[in-house]
Amino acid sequence: MTIERDFFRQVAGQFATGVTVVTTRNQGTLAGLTVNAFCSVSLDPPLVLVCVDLTSATLPAIRESGIFAINILTDEQEHLSRCFATSTEERYKHFCHASFQTAATGSPIIEGALAFLDTRVVAEYPGGDHVIFLSEVVAMGTDGRIDFAKEEDKLHATILEGAESLNGNKPGEEKIPLAYYRGKYRHLASGYLKPSLAK
Ligand SMILES: Cc1cc2nc3c(=O)[nH]c(=O)nc-3n(C[C@H](O)[C@H](O)[C@H](O)COP(=O)(O)O)c2cc1C
Repeated sequence: MTIERDFFRQVAGQFATGVTVVTTRNQGTLAGLTVNAFCSVSLDPPLVLVCVDLTSATLPAIRESGIFAINILTDEQEHLSRCFATSTEERYKHFCHASFQTAATGSPIIEGALAFLDTRVVAEYPGGDHVIFLSEVVAMGTDGRIDFAKEEDKLHATILEGAESLNGNKPGEEKIPLAYYRGKYRHLASGYLKPSLAK
C-alpha cells in the first residue's frame, strides 16, 4: 500500500483554484512566486495562509522580511503566473516587468490584479516539504476599494483607491479570475457569473 506522489498530485489537482503571485520586499529587494496554495483562515482576526516549498528561493526573503502580499490574478495575467514560476533573469532581476504599487507593508501590489491582501506573518508551521505561513491582513483591496487595518499605514501607501488600473473595473467591465485545474490554466466562460440556482 502506498500513496503515490504523481497520483496524489492528480487527486489534489481536481480541486480548481485561482492563481496568486505572493510578493515580498526584503531590504529593498523585490521577490515573488506563483502560489495556488492560498486560503483564508479567520475573519477575526483576519488571517490567511500560504504554503511555500522548502526549496523555494523566495522562502528566505519571506522569512526575513516577515511580510508578503497575495496578488490574485486575472485571466489577463497568465504571463505573470508563468513568469513568477520560472527561474529566469526576467523574474529575478526585473520582477517579471510587473508594475506595482505599495499598500501597508511595502510588499509589491501588482497592478491590474483582481484583488490583493497585504499581510504580516504571525506564525510559521512545518508542512512536510512545504512551510505554512499564517499571516495577518493589514490592507486589502478589490473593485476599486481599499481597506487599511491602521489609518497611519494609508499615509505611506502609493496605491490609490478607485484607480482603474489597480483592482478597479472600467464601467461595465467585470474582471475574470485566472483559474488552475488539473495542472492547467483555465479561462472561465463569460457566463460563469450566472447564479447556479435560478431565483
Ligand atoms: C499554478 C501554479 C501554482 C503554484 N503553487 C505553488 C504553491 O502554492 N507553493 C509553492 O511553493 N510553489 C508553487 N508553485 C511553484 C512555484 O511558483 C515555482 O516553483 C517557483 O519557480 C518557485 O520559485 P523560487 O524557488 O524562486 O521561489 C506553483 C506554480 C504554478 C505554475
